[in-house]
Amino acid sequence: MNSNLKALQKFELEENDLLAEVLEGLQREQKQLPCKLFYDARGSSLFDQICELAEYYPTRTEMEIMNKYIDEISAFLRNKCLLVELGSGSSKKIRLLLDHLEEPAGYVPVDISEEHLMMAVTSLAKDYPKLKIIPVHADYTKAFELPSLSLPWSHKVIYYPGSSIGNFTLSEATIFLKRIAKLAGRTGGLLIGVDLKKDKNVLETAYNDKNGITAQFNLNILSRINRELDADFDLDQWRHFAFYNSDEGRIEMHLISCKNQYAHIDNTELFFRMGESILTEYSYKYTLEEFERLVSNLFKVDHVWTDEERKFSVQYLSVR
Ligand code: AVI
Repeated sequence: MNSNLKALQKFELEENDLLAEVLEGLQREQKQLPCKLFYDARGSSLFDQICELAEYYPTRTEMEIMNKYIDEISAFLRNKCLLVELGSGSSKKIRLLLDHLEEPAGYVPVDISEEHLMMAVTSLAKDYPKLKIIPVHADYTKAFELPSLSLPWSHKVIYYPGSSIGNFTLSEATIFLKRIAKLAGRTGGLLIGVDLKKDKNVLETAYNDKNGITAQFNLNILSRINRELDADFDLDQWRHFAFYNSDEGRIEMHLISCKNQYAHIDNTELFFRMGESILTEYSYKYTLEEFERLVSNLFKVDHVWTDEERKFSVQYLSVR
């Protein structure tokens, strides 16, 4: 192991927690699965493919904004910041920041997929031999702690790109932001990517790509449950469905049952009617004003960068 790469810190989800969460979600009136279950090794790699799709504008547009304004963005982050990335995945986006920041004190990638995390940090440690990297395997949607670090950092910046904030409901987002403000501390900041409201067709195309990668990503949640919770979902009898709910301002992803069918998880039998859906993900889209209202109790919006068409925004917020 490279000497700049510290040992992995784990805050693992217990298997029983996973079983309880899945069963609870599938017994609701609107059956539901937590979207964090997408990200096993296969799901994380399908997500990487989604990010490269022509139809999926968020990743490309966010990187375009980051590239264009990187000097300004780096100035907001200041020297000696401890960079904590939530949902770091393949740790590709952080490279641009690392190439432009003067003396980052360290990098703490936090991800739910251990395999993906370890692959990413191994290659990062080789490419940035002076950077202290402290990987944390955790479900960042739940409480977790940063390892105690003997690094000379002056403030923390939480990096939360990709508009994953949109995957929380509004009340969940408020609770999450409270935890992030606490994690960042009084002198800290949050660099966040936020997807913006736009034409319904553009949105729906982004979640219904013609090669069916998003469909595979969605269905992978059932393969994972089959494998990890010894369930027997018949993957051929479910189809991907995503649409923009304009009243709620969110994309909704569902899996639709193609027939009346049963599935078994552990010792529980579950019935699904033909046409019934399992909700797998919300992806909320915001206007700049809506987002500012969402964060305003906790953060001050110091700067917003957008692309010319205002499809996406990158925002630097400081803790109030
Ligand atoms: C991770 N998250 C921001 C993605 C999104 O757009 O909500 C997940 C995704 N789901 C389907 N495509 C991408």
